[in-house]
This record gives sequence, structure tokens and C-alpha cells, in this order.
Amino acid sequence: MTKQIIRKIADDTDIVGSHETIKLGNFRHDRNLEHGKEEWLTPPEIIQAFGPFDLDPCAPVKRPWATADNHYTIEDDGLLRPWQGLVWCNPPYGPKTGDWLARCAQHNNCLALVFARTETQWFQNHVWPHATSLFFITGRLSFYHVGGEKGGTAGAPSVLIAYGKLADQRLRDNQTIAGQHLQNLPSKLIRLHLKNQTNE
Ligand SMILES: C[S@@+](CC[C@H](N)C(=O)[O-])C[C@H]1O[C@@H](n2cnc3c(N)ncnc32)[C@H](O)[C@@H]1O
Repeated sequence: MTKQIIRKIADDTDIVGSHETIKLGNFRHDRNLEHGKEEWLTPPEIIQAFGPFDLDPCAPVKRPWATADNHYTIEDDGLLRPWQGLVWCNPPYGPKTGDWLARCAQHNNCLALVFARTETQWFQNHVWPHATSLFFITGRLSFYHVGGEKGGTAGAPSVLIAYGKLADQRLRDNQTIAGQHLQNLPSKLIRLHLKNQTNE
């Protein structure tokens, strides 16, 4: 059984030179192995629906469109830079996602887009206790490649996280993207934490 799963993962991973394309069902995303970064761009209709934004702290070096008035890239390291105004954050996926969401929560003037992985530690630690509201998008998004081409359908649903009043208002004003807006999250969610129960 385990061998079958490992073989399936191996079959779903193509490596061509320094550029790896991972397939998750019909969804493919590019990972630049030289920088260990993932380029997985927000569909422009999402930026149009919820923008404009003052800053995208994790934008591609070469981008097909602006996501905000100002951008930081991996060359700047947007996690270490000052953040100003309403921030748009579709962070790099992987082990650093929690660091980016922690920064979003600290800034408290941010709209973040991540997979709706409610079981993960980063969701438990940096979303539920700090989000002002959540918008679970209906269906699955198709993310874009840095050349501007649309990729396949994502392997998981997505959620927008409002940190702060302005981001929450953008979710309330939305008339174009279908989904469920979970508003007025209680300031104290009751959390039951059990030993030996960990997720990534
Ligand atoms: C999921 S993509 C989203 C891109 C863009 N924010 C958007 O919404 O379309 C994550 C981006 O973060 C960039 N990135 C990775 N590490 C970074 C860092 N330390 N500082 C700034 N950007 C970074 C990657 O190059 C990639 O373009």
C-alpha cells in the first residue's frame, strides 16, 4: 500500500533540469529548484475583485501583472521588510506558510489567500485565533504561471483570510467571487489541544 502511494507520488513528479513540475490531479505548479520557490500566481479576477492593495510582500521577480502598488520579491525578502498599508499576501507554499501568516496577523491590515487546509498547524495557530473573517471560495481556483498562462485546477479549495477591518470590508463588498463569508469570528475560539496530535 505504502509502496503504491510512493510510486504514485513519483509518477506525478516530473523533473526537467532545474525546473520541476508537480502534478496534483489535473493541477500542475512550477517550482524553481534553484531558489526553492514556488510560483503560483493569484488569478487576476481575485485581485480585481478585492483590490486595490498597497503592498504585495511576496511577488514574483518577473510578473505578468501588478498585484499591488508596491511589491517585494524573494530578492528583497519580503518577510524582513517593513509592511505598509493594505497588504495582499498569497504566500509561498510549504514550511514557511506559517511565518507569512504570522506576519499577516501581526500587521493586521492584510488579505491573505491560502489553501483551506484547516487541519494544519499554521491554520490552527495563525488563522483561527487572529482572523477577522474568512471567505471560503466556491469551487477551486486555477492559478497562473509567471508567463501569464492559466494553470490547471488547484488540488484543494482556497480561502481568503481578512486580518483587520479594511480587509474584512473588502470581503463584505465583494459582488463577483462566489463563496461563503464567515463573519464576526469570536475573539476567543475555544481550542481543544490534545497531545500527540500534530499536523504540518
Ligand atoms: C504563491 S506565489 C504568489 C505570488 C503573488 N503574491 C500573487 O499573489 O500572485 C508566492 C511568491 O512568493 C515569492 N517569494 C518566495 N519567498 C519570498 C520571500 N522571502 N520574499 C518575497 N517573495 C518571496 C515567490 O517568488 C512567489 O512569486
